[in-house]
Amino acid sequence: MIVANRLPVDQVRTPEGEVRWQRSPGGLVTALEPFMRARSGAWLGWSGAAGPAEPAFNHEGLHLVPVPLSAEEVDRYYEGFSNASLWPLYHDVVQPPAFHRSWWDSYVSVNRRFAEAAAQAAGDGATVWVHDYQLQLVPRMLRELRPDLRIGFFLHIPFPPMELFMQVPWRRQIMAGLLGADLIGFQRPMGAQNFLLIARRLFDVRPSRNTVEYEGRRVQASSFPISIDTHSYDAMAASAPVVERARQIRAELGNPEKIILGVDRLDYTKGIGVRLEAFQELLEDGSVRAPQTVLVQVATPSRERIEHYVTMREEIERTVGHINGEFGGIGGPAVHYLHQSMPREELAALYRAADVMAVTPYRDGMNLVAKEYVASRSDLRGALVLSEFAGASAELRQAFLVNPHDIAGVKQALRDALELSPGEQARRMRAMRRTVRRYDLDHWASSFFAALNS
Ligand code: ADP
Ligand code: G6P
Repeated sequence: MIVANRLPVDQVRTPEGEVRWQRSPGGLVTALEPFMRARSGAWLGWSGAAGPAEPAFNHEGLHLVPVPLSAEEVDRYYEGFSNASLWPLYHDVVQPPAFHRSWWDSYVSVNRRFAEAAAQAAGDGATVWVHDYQLQLVPRMLRELRPDLRIGFFLHIPFPPMELFMQVPWRRQIMAGLLGADLIGFQRPMGAQNFLLIARRLFDVRPSRNTVEYEGRRVQASSFPISIDTHSYDAMAASAPVVERARQIRAELGNPEKIILGVDRLDYTKGIGVRLEAFQELLEDGSVRAPQTVLVQVATPSRERIEHYVTMREEIERTVGHINGEFGGIGGPAVHYLHQSMPREELAALYRAADVMAVTPYRDGMNLVAKEYVASRSDLRGALVLSEFAGASAELRQAFLVNPHDIAGVKQALRDALELSPGEQARRMRAMRRTVRRYDLDHWASSFFAALNS
């Protein structure tokens, strides 16, 4: 059984009051959906809408069990403690986190609801896999209710160093919550190390080889870098309709010489402003000219009621307007900005159309967009500019690795990537494709389960 804040689909109500389901945003769903599709088992999560939950249902081969959140819980547990306390704190305090007791109380009661729903739905001796920062108390709560279960936990975002984590007023409760699992998975070895150091400090346990003894049980903390279903992504991106759509996209953009692409949830951790600023400076100093070179930025709407997201969206849209005002022509903008989500096939066509993919987060657990770009390029063309602070940089070493805080460095990397020869593009892409083929979704899940079952 999977327990995650999000179900793979989001509930939307049409103006006629009809309920429809559409794909939920984000990397967690991208990874877990094909994983669950290949197995039987239930997925517990929130439907994305406030109010009572729909009854359990089957959707395209998945058994989904909605867990309800009231409007107040959406406000306090989801937008508050999860996304305005933990999210910025765990991402290196890119924005200052806020802590409120009412948010925490709501986090505790929603975690308890998820634990109770999982305890009720899980069969005897079942394996339950709990996901991400929204549900860190669930492992312990669930173990108290159901000691027969095997419980795994995976954190999709970075786990911060001790100096940052210790800011949380409820740090002991969160650590104890996680230690209820048998195995805790992180994206990077550093996450596991941070966790073990904090456990030692708070509970006086002695970690030995990624394992601690806690309340008479052994708990393991290790890294399992997440990935995509490379094989099927590759096949989809290489299919005739997607290849044809990529050609059409280039034509619709006016057949520019070079296309730089960004694809992100509209989130302040993603460094969208960094790449706009670098692109603007390249236009200003004459290194590139529009519309011969264009930037396409796709930004999926995300967490739209949280203040930091509102301000960031305004800033980004102002900058796009400014760049286009200065450097665009009639019918020929320098930046094509799309604030919308789109079908996977359309994204894959964009990946195939792009000469340079710019992934510049200030901090990111993994970043699956970078891996999708590589999986899409069976033509061995294109170049990836990738932040050192994305988990993916540990694997995709042939990308142009950049420090997003260093605008001059980002500009240089974009210039180098734009000028890369076809032979060098192929050499780098071939090596990165080998990596994403080898370390794919299946490798991630099977190594996690091998560790959980041992
Ligand atoms: P995060 O989980 O923080 O959003 P990732 O890069 O790991 O970041 O995952 C993002 C996922 O969302 C990818 O699978 C990507 O294809 C998908 N995605 C990003 N932008 C869009 C969009 N505009 N429409 C549909 N899917 C998108
Ligand atoms: C990241 C998080 C996920 C989350 C996703 C989308 O990938 O790790 O837990 O589901 O972003 O964010 P949202 O708040 O819309 O669920």
